[in-house]
Amino acid sequence: DFWAVVPAGGAGTRLWPLSRESCPKFLLDLTQTGRSLIQGTWDRLLPLTTPARLMVVTGSVHAPAVQEQLPDLLAGNLLAEPSPKESAAAIGLAAAVLARRDPEAILGSFAADHMISGAEAFNAAVNEAVCTAREDYLVTIGIAPSGPATGFGYIRLGKKLGVNGAPNARVVEQFKEKPDAKTAAQYLQSGDYRWNAGMFVVKARVLMELLHEHEPSLAKGLEVIAEAWELEGDRPAESAERRKRVLSEVWSGLTKIAIDNAVAEPAALKGRVAVVPATFGWDDLGDFSSLSDLLPKESNQMAILGDPSYVIHQQVAGGIVIPLSQRLVACLGVDDLVIVDTPDALLVTTRARSQELKKLVAKCKESP
Ligand code: GDD
Ligand code: MG
Repeated sequence: DFWAVVPAGGAGTRLWPLSRESCPKFLLDLTQTGRSLIQGTWDRLLPLTTPARLMVVTGSVHAPAVQEQLPDLLAGNLLAEPSPKESAAAIGLAAAVLARRDPEAILGSFAADHMISGAEAFNAAVNEAVCTAREDYLVTIGIAPSGPATGFGYIRLGKKLGVNGAPNARVVEQFKEKPDAKTAAQYLQSGDYRWNAGMFVVKARVLMELLHEHEPSLAKGLEVIAEAWELEGDRPAESAERRKRVLSEVWSGLTKIAIDNAVAEPAALKGRVAVVPATFGWDDLGDFSSLSDLLPKESNQMAILGDPSYVIHQQVAGGIVIPLSQRLVACLGVDDLVIVDTPDALLVTTRARSQELKKLVAKCKESP
């Protein structure tokens, strides 16, 4: 009764110009393993379930690339969105579809663009989360924070739950999505918080109930779409038409909100969210700094993503170079730079400031 759902969206703005709207982070091989992030996610989830129970929710523009990268993904398990509506709609759509087939089915939602190491610890955490979800909790996975990051959700740990099969599960006292820097620093100092790993394990029925409670119009819209979806089968051609029409009519009106704000924050206040502390390695690869931490280094601690024969450096220390335009990138006497050379855009910044890319990219969009 366990289904894995992979929401794959977002543009990965902080990795521009490597990641683009047309080719987002999850389609890229950022780990130099020969597998893109979504392929890595698939590989990681397969031991926990079967292709018949693995769903991907992505934008319709990216659906063909996803299908190509994941040849074993069943066409019926690839849910394509007409436009991006953020994670509550993406994960909620999967839950609405599943709830009609089996309301008690447990779904685990796993981000398409994370790096995880330690398969055994990962599987153990998911198993604990599944056991906890059987008790009707919305279950998260908590990462020990390594700094006052402002790009994550923070989970305040409550008392142990004592659920069968989940010795480490705790109740969540508070869920705060992306706090400001001052609050994040306080949370870190208190030692009572974990980062939300962006994974949710929950019964389809429970997630729909929580959505109805906190975002009722979104929940209703998703159910209308799921119903049209299900009618497939009898008369495929006719229902495909209907499905298309309902999707385009209802989808555009859905509330754009992250599942963290929509459901996790309010549900935690009611004691309905649980957390399993993670012991596996986790990185959300959010910016060039975390990407360079992860990659193998040259002797001068510089990371290169791509063909190293295109990079020549002297008296350089640290930083990351991504040569993608088949020309030489030569650097002399500069430390901790980020250089991303693509055929139509070149980025030069420092590692320290690579978190601030969002505003710059917005400006690039305005320029001709
Ligand atoms: N299909 C689809 N459509 N998926 C989407 C969309 C969308 O419109 N928007 C986001 N997603 C997917 C992303 O691909 C990712 O797998 C997941 O939903 C979470 O969205 P992000 O946009 O990556 O969220 P975030 O990184 O800002 O924050 C979340 O992840 C953090 C950990 O990396 C939150 O859950 C935080 O609490 C968490 O700490
Ligand atoms: Mg993310």
